Amino acid sequence: MLSDKDRIFLNLYGLHDPMLKGARSRGAWDGTKAMLERGRDAIIEEVKASGLRGRGGAGFPTGLKWSFMPKEIGERPHYLVVNADESEPGTCKDREIMRHDPHLLIEGCLIASFAMGAHTAYIYIRGEFIREREALQAAVDECYEARLIGENNVHGWDFDIVIAHGAGAYICGEETALLESLEGKKGMPRLKPPFPANMGLYGCPTTVNNVESIAVAPEILRRGGNWFAGLGKPNNTGTKLFCVSGHVNAPCTVEEEMGIPLRELIDKHCGGVRGGWDNLMAVIPGGSSVPCLPASVCDDLPMDFDTLRDLKSGLGTAAVVVMDKSTDIVRAIARIAYFYKHESCGQCTPCREGTGWMWRVLERMARGEAEKREIDMLLEVTYQVEGHTICALGDAAAWPIQGLIRHFRPEIERRIDDYAAAQKTGGAIMQAAE
Ligand SMILES: Cc1cc2nc3c(=O)[nH]c(=O)nc-3n(C[C@H](O)[C@H](O)[C@H](O)COP(=O)(O)O)c2cc1C
Ligand code: SF4
Repeated sequence: MLSDKDRIFLNLYGLHDPMLKGARSRGAWDGTKAMLERGRDAIIEEVKASGLRGRGGAGFPTGLKWSFMPKEIGERPHYLVVNADESEPGTCKDREIMRHDPHLLIEGCLIASFAMGAHTAYIYIRGEFIREREALQAAVDECYEARLIGENNVHGWDFDIVIAHGAGAYICGEETALLESLEGKKGMPRLKPPFPANMGLYGCPTTVNNVESIAVAPEILRRGGNWFAGLGKPNNTGTKLFCVSGHVNAPCTVEEEMGIPLRELIDKHCGGVRGGWDNLMAVIPGGSSVPCLPASVCDDLPMDFDTLRDLKSGLGTAAVVVMDKSTDIVRAIARIAYFYKHESCGQCTPCREGTGWMWRVLERMARGEAEKREIDMLLEVTYQVEGHTICALGDAAAWPIQGLIRHFRPEIERRIDDYAAAQKTGGAIMQAAE
C-alpha cells in the first residue's frame, strides 16, 4: 500500500479544513515562489522527469504536452485550460479534489501556467458540479485576497483564474469540444490538426489538462520528479486516484501507487467483492469506455497503463467498475451503449448512426432476440466506428462492445439459444392448445 508519507491528497475525504489555512498546514503554497524562480524550462523538465502521464484518460505525458506550447509569447496570449468535466461514468476523483483540496489545483494552475507562459487559466467544470464550483470559487477568492494570484501577486507572475460552468454534456469533456463550449458555442469537437497548442482557445496557444494532472504538479516540484518517478514502475509512475464502484462492499475513491494489484485495491480499500472474490465476474478497469476484463485475468492484475493496454483494455480514468456474478453483463454493456448513443454530438456519420445501431442490436441480444451471425456483424460495425470519427467518443462507444464479445461471446450465444428454445416450446404449447 502507498505509505502515508508519499500521499499527495491529504484531505481527500474532507476530514480537515479545505480552505487556505488548512491547505497551508498540509504543505500547499509552500515554496511556490522559489519553484517559479527556477524558470519555465526547469519546471517542464522536472515534470518530464517525474514521468507523469495525463490523468484525464489517454495517459499522454504531461511534461511533453507542456513543452509543445510556443517558447516565445507572441501577440496571442497563452492559456491553460483545466478539464474538470469529469463525465466518464464511474469516475469521481476530480470532484474530491475540488471539494476538499482545491488549493492543490489552484497552485498547480499557477505553476503550469507559468511554465507555459500563460497569464490566465480557465477551469471548465461539469454542469452538475454545483457545490464543487462553489468550493473552488471560494478557494480562488481566498487566493486573490491573499495575493497568491491576481495582478502584482506575491509570486511575481500576473495570473488570473476563471471558473466556467458547463451545462452537463459528456462531449464537453473532449478537449476541443470543451474549448468550443468555453467560447460560448455548441460543444462539438474540432478536427485536429491544428492542435490546441497552436490554435486552441480563441485561436490562441492552449494546453488542456485534467484536474488531477494539474493538482499533483506542485508536489512533484516540491519533492522532485525523481520522487514521483520512484513510485509505480517505469512509464507508469506516481500515485493515482482510483475510484472503485459497483459490487464491492465499500465503494471508495483512494490514492494509491500506480500499478497496485486490482485484488489488493479491492480487498484493502473496498472491503472486498460482494460475496467474496470468487463471486467476481468482470471489471471495467478505467471508466465505462474501456473494454471489460473477465475475472480470470483479475487475480494478479497490476493497475497501470501498459499492463491494461496489453490486455486490450485500458487504465483510462482509473474508475474501476466491479461486477459480480449477479450482473447481467449483456444488459450492462447495452446500457453503456445507450449512454454513448445519447451523448454523441452527431457530427460524424459512423458515430451518429453507429452508436444507435449498436445499442439497438445489443438490446435485442440482451433478450436473446438475435441471430448468432449478428454477433460478428456487430463486432464488424464496432471496427467501422472505431478510428473513423473526429473524436474518441466513437472509440469509447465501440470498445465496451468489443470487450463484451471478446470475453462473453458464449453468454450472448446462450441467450440466443435459450430464446430460440423458448420460442419453439411456446410454439408447441400454442399448437397443442389449438
Ligand atoms: C468523449 C470524451 C470525453 C472526455 N471527457 C473528459 C473529462 O471529463 N475529463 C478529462 O479530464 N478528460 C476528458 N477527456 C479527455 C480530454 O479530451 C483530454 O485528453 C484530457 O483532458 C487531457 O488531460 P490530461 O493530458 O491531463 O489527461 C475526454 C475525451 C473524450 C474523447
Ligand atoms: S465521434 Fe461522435 S461525439 Fe465525436 S465528433 Fe464525431 S459524432 Fe461527435
